[in-house]
Amino acid sequence: MIIPVLLAGGVGSRLWPLSRELYPKQCINLFDAEKSLIQQTAERSVSTGMSSNPIVVCNDEHRFLIAQQMTESGIKADIVLEPAGRNTAPAIALAAFQALERDANAILVVLPADHVIRDHDKFAAALDLAVEQAKNGKLVTFGVKPTYAETGYGYIQAEEKGVVSPVKAFKEKPDAETAEQYVAAGSYYWNSGMFVFSAQAYLDELNAFQPEIYTSVKKAFDGHKVDLDFIRIDSEAFEASPSDSIDYAIMEKTTRAVVVPYDGDWNDIGAWAALYDLNEKDESGNVLFGDVLIHEAKGNFIRSENQLIAAVGVEDLAIVSTKDAVAVMPRSRAQDIKHVVNQLKAAG
Ligand code: GDD
Ligand code: MG
Repeated sequence: MIIPVLLAGGVGSRLWPLSRELYPKQCINLFDAEKSLIQQTAERSVSTGMSSNPIVVCNDEHRFLIAQQMTESGIKADIVLEPAGRNTAPAIALAAFQALERDANAILVVLPADHVIRDHDKFAAALDLAVEQAKNGKLVTFGVKPTYAETGYGYIQAEEKGVVSPVKAFKEKPDAETAEQYVAAGSYYWNSGMFVFSAQAYLDELNAFQPEIYTSVKKAFDGHKVDLDFIRIDSEAFEASPSDSIDYAIMEKTTRAVVVPYDGDWNDIGAWAALYDLNEKDESGNVLFGDVLIHEAKGNFIRSENQLIAAVGVEDLAIVSTKDAVAVMPRSRAQDIKHVVNQLKAAG
């Protein structure tokens, strides 16, 4: 049984003012006003051949929103609720325990709910290769060809490039200098952030490398209760788990990792600049959504929810307006909006 696992824990503060604590980025309709990122991810799991209902792991606060969006997509998901985020290693462990209730040989396909992949055929082909490896106890990553020295990604060194290969080294979020060396060396991939493994293989590695996480999450899951569509775990036990990502906690350490090259389209929607990159530009290189008028403006991303934005003579900006907030920044600094969000949080 192949089970998609949708990780939907983040808020996505770099997409402020659209993303909010109670309305996280994976639930927003970013492109076509029809489907949110999590709906697209869930529907993609069906169209690329994953045979069973997804397991969604998300924050308790987002449960109704996510349940409603799954229902709208006609998808019946098990929704496991986290009382507080402990990052991806514990979140995936919860999904693994839930999967084992369905099938002792369950294969998990871990999908961040905030990625955009439009070429389903290519993804389905890579997935087939990954599943084959996962059935042999491997922990499979998808390697994407790096195009610049991004420091926000993981880097994978393969034993052999261009084919399905054992992983020689995995380095999560290297510093800028190291990332540049990796890209120049040409022998590294970016880690796509999607993973395929059997639930049991993941839990075995977790137990071996992070026994504290394993023990806390097991205890939290053993104490779970089913409440309507939701799976509620033992909060106290879960909160006692160390917080760590799968990348640091497992992928940097395991010797069972395999990389499948993936050369289809793939985009991690981190900040507004990614939405500029993904969308079609007008003749002056602008991407405009909503009620926007421009004069001699070039290379801008402008998105209005419900008021007119007029932009004159400006270049390479991201301008986003919602009912109650407007954000303006150079596109190249779109990541830095998180500092404003931090100020807002500090101000309560
Ligand atoms: N349920 C749950 N709980 N989900 C979580 C949690 C959590 O505590 N923390 C993060 N997530 C979800 C996020 O919402 C996102 O969908 C996914 O897990 C990955 O988390 P990110 O925080 O976005 O990770 P990242 O982008 O810094 O790094 C990962 O992805 C990169 C590619 O996008 C790593 O796997 C990198 O190696 C990789 O290159
Ligand atoms: Mg991410």
